[in-house]
Amino acid sequence: MTSGFSFELLSEDRIKASLGSSSLVDRIYAFWTVSSTNDFAYKRALHDDNEGTLVVAEEQTRGRGRKARVWDSQFNLGLWFSLILRPEISASKAGLLPFLASVSVAEALEGFLNLKPDLKWPNDALLSNRKFCGILSEAEFIDGHVKFIILGIGINVNHKSENLPEDIRGQSTSVRIQSQMRVDRADLLAAILKGFESNYTTFKSNGILPILEKWKARCSRLGKSVEVVQDDGQWEGIFQDIDAEGRMLLQLKSGEIKKIVAADVLF
Ligand code: BTN
Repeated sequence: MTSGFSFELLSEDRIKASLGSSSLVDRIYAFWTVSSTNDFAYKRALHDDNEGTLVVAEEQTRGRGRKARVWDSQFNLGLWFSLILRPEISASKAGLLPFLASVSVAEALEGFLNLKPDLKWPNDALLSNRKFCGILSEAEFIDGHVKFIILGIGINVNHKSENLPEDIRGQSTSVRIQSQMRVDRADLLAAILKGFESNYTTFKSNGILPILEKWKARCSRLGKSVEVVQDDGQWEGIFQDIDAEGRMLLQLKSGEIKKIVAADVLF
């Protein structure tokens, strides 16, 4: 019997089949269309949904990036998903989760397709110097601690060049464009989630340093001169290191080391 569909859908069953057993992923909400997986996950987290709740959509009508930018989330082309996390960490460490996410995306793509993404500060991943993945992490705090974090990940997967929005076509790319292969999104999602599960376990038992080592090994800008643009100013310096709270240590020309909070960096 034919279904009449010539495209694969990211159904809950399909994701579970690719994922197999998971100690992290709990409930899965799989939508054809949703405003934003982050918004839906945030509401579910406020209703006490568990850590490991996964929200995935074929299309987002109001997909968001950082600084309220629009995130283009067309039907059936990408991976648009959010995960509810409830790590027992202080509020100051909430900014570390995007490092785990971007390392997990890079490792999955390397294992899956032998692609080697370059990790840019720490919410973006690039291929051939063009962005294909963005991470939006949003948190709720209580008494100086994390109550929950919504880790939202958007990946351009099966886009052909003409599918990328015209205004960002010159700066963006997709896994398909880079690998010249149409990719099974459920399998890629499962590989990312399995990798994330392992990195998250490491983070909870050994802290962020082993993850930062992996992140730094994949960041071509480390040790180089970079320009950082924030709301309150602009700085040029050498990207020396990342501290244990995920801040960039930028050595200015004066020799002073400036600590830059990840969420604000635009270089
Ligand atoms: C950025 O690069 O500014 C972050 C983009 C994050 C996009 C993802 S797609 C899934 C989740 N839902 C959203 O509305 N945004 C994130």
